[in-house]
Amino acid sequence: MKLKVENVEFSYTSVPVLTDACLELAQSEMLGIVGPNGAGKSTLIRCIDRILKPQRGSILLDGEELRHIGMRETAKKLGYIPQSASQVFPATVFDTVLMGRRPHIGWRSSEKDNEKVLDVLQMLNIEDLAMRDINETSGGQQQRVFIARALAQEPDILLLDEPTSNLDIQHQLEVMEIIKDLVVKKRISAIMAVHDLNLASRYADRLIIMKGGRIVEAGSPPDVLTPENIRSVYGVEAEVINRNGGMPYILPIRSVRQDGRRK
Ligand SMILES: Nc1ncnc2c1ncn2[C@@H]1O[C@H](COP(=O)(O)OP(=O)(O)OP(=O)(O)O)[C@@H](O)[C@H]1O
Ligand SMILES: [Mg+2]
Repeated sequence: MKLKVENVEFSYTSVPVLTDACLELAQSEMLGIVGPNGAGKSTLIRCIDRILKPQRGSILLDGEELRHIGMRETAKKLGYIPQSASQVFPATVFDTVLMGRRPHIGWRSSEKDNEKVLDVLQMLNIEDLAMRDINETSGGQQQRVFIARALAQEPDILLLDEPTSNLDIQHQLEVMEIIKDLVVKKRISAIMAVHDLNLASRYADRLIIMKGGRIVEAGSPPDVLTPENIRSVYGVEAEVINRNGGMPYILPIRSVRQDGRRK
Protein backbone atom coordinates (compact mmCIF):
# COMPACT_ATOMS: atom_id res chain seq x y z
CA MET A 1 0.00 0.00 0.00
CA LYS A 2 1.39 3.37 -1.03
CA LEU A 3 0.59 6.64 0.70
CA LYS A 4 0.95 10.05 -0.89
CA VAL A 5 0.42 13.38 0.87
CA GLU A 6 0.18 16.30 -1.52
CA ASN A 7 0.33 19.97 -0.60
CA VAL A 8 -1.58 19.56 2.64
CA GLU A 9 -2.42 22.69 4.57
CA PHE A 10 -4.00 22.74 7.98
CA SER A 11 -4.82 25.36 10.59
CA TYR A 12 -6.60 25.01 13.93
CA THR A 13 -7.23 28.76 14.09
CA SER A 14 -6.29 31.45 11.59
CA VAL A 15 -2.59 30.59 11.93
CA PRO A 16 -1.43 27.85 9.55
CA VAL A 17 0.10 24.87 11.36
CA LEU A 18 0.92 22.83 8.26
CA THR A 19 2.01 24.50 5.05
CA ASP A 20 2.48 22.64 1.79
CA ALA A 21 3.17 19.27 3.39
CA CYS A 22 4.17 16.65 0.83
CA LEU A 23 5.43 13.14 1.44
CA GLU A 24 5.42 9.68 -0.04
CA LEU A 25 5.54 6.39 1.76
CA ALA A 26 6.31 3.19 -0.09
CA GLN A 27 5.26 -0.29 1.00
CA SER A 28 7.58 -1.81 3.60
CA GLU A 29 9.10 1.55 4.45
CA MET A 30 9.56 3.22 7.82
CA LEU A 31 9.43 7.01 7.68
CA GLY A 32 10.51 9.04 10.69
CA ILE A 33 9.28 12.57 11.43
CA VAL A 34 11.55 14.70 13.56
CA GLY A 35 11.41 18.36 14.54
CA PRO A 36 11.01 20.54 17.63
CA ASN A 37 7.93 20.90 19.85
CA GLY A 38 5.12 22.54 17.95
CA ALA A 39 6.63 21.80 14.51
CA GLY A 40 3.42 20.11 13.34
CA LYS A 41 4.39 16.42 13.56
CA SER A 42 1.26 15.30 15.45
CA THR A 43 -0.95 17.51 13.29
CA LEU A 44 0.42 15.90 10.13
CA ILE A 45 -0.12 12.39 11.52
CA ARG A 46 -3.66 13.30 12.61
CA CYS A 47 -4.45 14.67 9.15
CA ILE A 48 -3.33 11.35 7.65
CA ASP A 49 -5.49 9.44 10.16
CA ARG A 50 -8.45 11.72 9.28
CA ILE A 51 -8.88 12.92 12.85
CA LEU A 52 -8.24 16.34 11.36
CA LYS A 53 -9.49 17.53 8.00
CA PRO A 54 -6.94 19.48 5.96
CA GLN A 55 -8.19 22.74 4.47
CA ARG A 56 -6.21 22.05 1.30
CA GLY A 57 -4.32 19.29 -0.45
CA SER A 58 -4.93 15.60 -0.79
CA ILE A 59 -4.01 12.33 0.87
CA LEU A 60 -4.00 9.32 -1.43
CA LEU A 61 -3.85 5.62 -0.63
CA ASP A 62 -2.81 3.65 -3.71
CA GLY A 63 -3.99 6.60 -5.78
CA GLU A 64 -7.44 6.84 -4.13
CA GLU A 65 -8.44 9.90 -2.11
CA LEU A 66 -8.50 8.78 1.51
CA ARG A 67 -11.62 10.82 2.27
CA HIS A 68 -13.56 8.75 -0.27
CA ILE A 69 -12.77 5.50 1.53
CA GLY A 70 -15.26 4.35 4.21
CA MET A 71 -14.28 4.62 7.89
CA ARG A 72 -14.27 0.87 8.51
CA GLU A 73 -12.13 0.27 5.44
CA THR A 74 -9.79 3.07 6.54
CA ALA A 75 -9.44 1.41 9.95
CA LYS A 76 -8.18 -1.74 8.26
CA LYS A 77 -5.61 0.30 6.39
CA LEU A 78 -4.43 2.82 9.01
CA GLY A 79 -3.57 2.12 12.64
CA TYR A 80 -2.99 5.19 14.79
CA ILE A 81 -1.16 5.35 18.09
CA PRO A 82 -1.69 8.72 19.80
CA GLN A 83 1.06 10.71 21.52
CA SER A 84 -0.78 10.53 24.82
CA ALA A 85 -4.21 9.48 25.93
CA SER A 86 -5.40 11.64 28.81
CA GLN A 87 -8.86 10.14 29.07
CA VAL A 88 -8.86 6.39 28.89
CA PHE A 89 -12.11 4.44 28.77
CA PRO A 90 -12.10 2.11 31.79
CA ALA A 91 -11.61 -1.42 30.52
CA THR A 92 -9.21 -4.28 30.99
CA VAL A 93 -5.98 -4.28 29.02
CA PHE A 94 -7.29 -7.33 27.12
CA ASP A 95 -10.53 -5.60 26.09
CA THR A 96 -8.70 -2.41 25.17
CA VAL A 97 -6.49 -4.37 22.77
CA LEU A 98 -9.48 -6.36 21.51
CA MET A 99 -11.04 -3.04 20.44
CA GLY A 100 -8.30 -2.92 17.83
CA ARG A 101 -9.99 -5.92 16.17
CA ARG A 102 -13.25 -4.01 15.67
CA PRO A 103 -12.79 -3.25 11.97
CA HIS A 104 -12.41 -7.00 11.38
CA ILE A 105 -15.16 -8.48 13.55
CA GLY A 106 -18.88 -8.69 12.99
CA TRP A 107 -21.24 -8.91 15.96
CA ARG A 108 -18.97 -10.91 18.19
CA SER A 109 -15.28 -11.53 18.50
CA SER A 110 -14.12 -15.02 17.56
CA GLU A 111 -11.49 -17.31 19.01
CA LYS A 112 -9.15 -16.03 16.30
CA ASP A 113 -9.54 -12.46 17.56
CA ASN A 114 -8.79 -13.54 21.13
CA GLU A 115 -5.70 -15.40 19.94
CA LYS A 116 -4.54 -12.37 18.01
CA VAL A 117 -4.91 -10.23 21.14
CA LEU A 118 -2.91 -12.73 23.22
CA ASP A 119 -0.25 -12.77 20.50
CA VAL A 120 0.29 -9.02 20.56
CA LEU A 121 0.11 -8.87 24.38
CA GLN A 122 2.95 -11.38 24.45
CA MET A 123 4.84 -9.57 21.72
CA LEU A 124 4.80 -6.38 23.81
CA ASN A 125 5.51 -8.15 27.06
CA ILE A 126 2.27 -7.14 28.77
CA GLU A 127 0.41 -10.45 28.94
CA ASP A 128 0.66 -10.32 32.75
CA LEU A 129 -1.46 -7.17 32.67
CA ALA A 130 -4.27 -8.63 30.53
CA MET A 131 -6.93 -8.48 33.26
CA ARG A 132 -5.73 -5.21 34.84
CA ASP A 133 -7.78 -2.02 34.34
CA ILE A 134 -5.94 0.11 31.80
CA ASN A 135 -6.21 3.08 34.20
CA GLU A 136 -4.22 1.14 36.77
CA THR A 137 -1.13 0.70 34.61
CA SER A 138 2.01 2.83 34.39
CA GLY A 139 2.63 5.37 31.62
CA GLY A 140 4.99 3.06 29.75
CA GLN A 141 2.73 0.03 30.18
CA GLN A 142 -0.20 2.06 28.85
CA GLN A 143 1.87 3.14 25.87
CA ARG A 144 2.57 -0.51 25.07
CA VAL A 145 -1.14 -1.32 25.40
CA PHE A 146 -1.96 1.29 22.72
CA ILE A 147 0.77 -0.06 20.47
CA ALA A 148 -0.69 -3.55 21.01
CA ARG A 149 -4.17 -2.27 20.11
CA ALA A 150 -2.87 -0.83 16.82
CA LEU A 151 -0.98 -4.04 16.01
CA ALA A 152 -4.09 -6.15 16.76
CA GLN A 153 -5.82 -4.02 14.13
CA GLU A 154 -3.39 -5.41 11.51
CA PRO A 155 -3.31 -2.23 9.44
CA ASP A 156 -1.29 -1.73 6.25
CA ILE A 157 0.15 1.51 7.60
CA LEU A 158 1.00 2.26 11.22
CA LEU A 159 0.90 5.89 12.32
CA LEU A 160 2.92 6.25 15.50
CA ASP A 161 3.09 9.52 17.40
CA GLU A 162 6.10 9.28 19.69
CA PRO A 163 5.54 5.60 20.49
CA THR A 164 8.56 5.36 22.77
CA SER A 165 8.28 8.62 24.74
CA ASN A 166 7.35 6.89 28.03
CA LEU A 167 9.44 3.77 27.61
CA ASP A 168 12.63 2.71 29.36
CA ILE A 169 15.62 2.02 27.10
CA GLN A 170 14.99 -1.71 26.93
CA HIS A 171 11.36 -1.28 25.88
CA GLN A 172 12.30 1.53 23.46
CA LEU A 173 14.54 -0.86 21.58
CA GLU A 174 12.02 -3.70 21.83
CA VAL A 175 9.18 -1.62 20.41
CA MET A 176 11.39 -0.32 17.60
CA GLU A 177 12.52 -3.86 16.76
CA ILE A 178 8.90 -5.12 16.75
CA ILE A 179 7.83 -2.36 14.38
CA LYS A 180 10.86 -2.77 12.13
CA ASP A 181 10.23 -6.51 12.01
CA LEU A 182 6.60 -6.01 10.95
CA VAL A 183 7.70 -3.53 8.30
CA VAL A 184 10.21 -5.99 6.87
CA LYS A 185 8.36 -9.32 7.30
CA LYS A 186 4.71 -8.32 6.88
CA ARG A 187 5.60 -5.58 4.38
CA ILE A 188 3.50 -2.96 6.15
CA SER A 189 4.69 0.66 6.37
CA ALA A 190 5.07 3.00 9.30
CA ILE A 191 5.20 6.72 9.90
CA MET A 192 6.66 7.62 13.26
CA ALA A 193 7.11 10.96 14.96
CA VAL A 194 10.05 10.68 17.31
CA HIS A 195 12.14 13.07 19.40
CA ASP A 196 15.10 10.79 19.89
CA LEU A 197 17.27 11.52 16.85
CA ASN A 198 19.38 8.44 17.45
CA LEU A 199 16.37 6.12 17.44
CA ALA A 200 15.16 7.87 14.28
CA SER A 201 18.57 7.53 12.67
CA ARG A 202 18.86 3.87 13.54
CA TYR A 203 15.40 2.61 12.66
CA ALA A 204 13.89 4.86 9.98
CA ASP A 205 14.57 4.17 6.30
CA ARG A 206 13.85 7.78 5.51
CA LEU A 207 13.30 10.92 7.58
CA ILE A 208 11.54 14.22 7.24
CA ILE A 209 12.56 17.10 9.46
CA MET A 210 9.91 19.76 10.20
CA LYS A 211 9.91 23.25 11.61
CA GLY A 212 7.07 25.77 11.89
CA GLY A 213 4.63 23.56 9.96
CA ARG A 214 6.96 23.01 7.01
CA ILE A 215 9.03 20.06 5.91
CA VAL A 216 12.55 21.44 5.85
CA GLU A 217 14.22 18.39 4.34
CA ALA A 218 13.43 14.79 3.42
CA GLY A 219 15.85 11.97 2.71
CA SER A 220 18.02 9.29 4.24
CA PRO A 221 19.09 9.75 7.89
CA PRO A 222 22.63 10.88 6.88
CA ASP A 223 21.16 13.45 4.45
CA VAL A 224 18.69 14.86 6.99
CA LEU A 225 20.60 14.66 10.27
CA THR A 226 23.39 17.05 9.39
CA PRO A 227 24.89 19.52 11.89
CA GLU A 228 23.50 22.35 9.70
CA ASN A 229 19.92 21.02 9.77
CA ILE A 230 20.07 20.33 13.51
CA ARG A 231 21.33 23.84 14.14
CA SER A 232 18.78 25.58 11.94
CA VAL A 233 15.80 23.46 13.03
CA TYR A 234 16.50 22.98 16.75
CA GLY A 235 18.97 25.78 17.50
CA VAL A 236 21.35 23.17 18.83
CA GLU A 237 24.96 22.64 18.00
CA ALA A 238 25.51 18.91 17.59
CA GLU A 239 28.29 16.62 16.66
CA VAL A 240 27.26 14.06 14.06
CA ILE A 241 29.36 10.94 14.26
CA ASN A 242 29.32 8.93 11.05
CA ARG A 243 30.27 5.41 11.91
CA ASN A 244 31.56 3.04 9.28
CA GLY A 245 28.58 1.63 7.44
CA GLY A 246 26.19 2.56 10.27
CA MET A 247 23.71 5.40 10.56
CA PRO A 248 24.87 8.72 12.01
CA TYR A 249 25.02 9.10 15.76
CA ILE A 250 23.97 12.52 17.07
CA LEU A 251 25.58 14.05 20.09
CA PRO A 252 23.94 17.35 21.10
CA ILE A 253 26.59 19.76 22.42
CA ARG A 254 24.91 23.03 23.32
CA SER A 255 21.90 25.19 22.64
CA VAL A 256 22.65 28.17 20.40
CA ARG A 257 20.61 31.26 19.63
CA GLN A 258 19.11 31.64 16.19
CA ASP A 259 21.77 34.26 15.42
CA GLY A 260 24.42 31.65 16.13
CA ARG A 261 25.60 32.94 19.53
CA ARG A 262 25.74 30.63 22.52
CA LYS A 263 23.02 30.96 25.12
N1 LIG B 1 -6.11 21.68 19.27
C1 LIG B 1 -5.32 22.70 18.93
N2 LIG B 1 -5.80 23.97 18.80
C2 LIG B 1 -5.01 24.99 18.43
N3 LIG B 1 -3.68 24.86 18.17
C3 LIG B 1 -3.14 23.64 18.29
C4 LIG B 1 -3.92 22.49 18.67
N4 LIG B 1 -3.11 21.42 18.72
C5 LIG B 1 -1.88 21.87 18.36
N5 LIG B 1 -1.90 23.20 18.11
C6 LIG B 1 -0.74 24.02 17.67
O1 LIG B 1 -0.31 23.54 16.41
C7 LIG B 1 1.10 23.57 16.33
C8 LIG B 1 1.62 22.19 15.96
O2 LIG B 1 1.30 21.31 17.01
P1 LIG B 1 1.66 19.74 16.95
O3 LIG B 1 0.99 19.11 18.09
O4 LIG B 1 1.35 19.24 15.59
O5 LIG B 1 3.24 19.80 17.15
P2 LIG B 1 4.28 18.62 17.36
O6 LIG B 1 5.34 18.78 16.31
O7 LIG B 1 3.58 17.32 17.42
O8 LIG B 1 4.92 18.99 18.77
P3 LIG B 1 5.39 18.06 20.01
O9 LIG B 1 6.80 17.67 19.68
O10 LIG B 1 5.36 18.98 21.17
O11 LIG B 1 4.47 16.90 20.13
C9 LIG B 1 1.60 24.10 17.66
O12 LIG B 1 1.89 25.45 17.52
C10 LIG B 1 0.44 23.87 18.60
O13 LIG B 1 0.42 24.84 19.61
MG1 LIG C 1 3.32 15.92 18.87
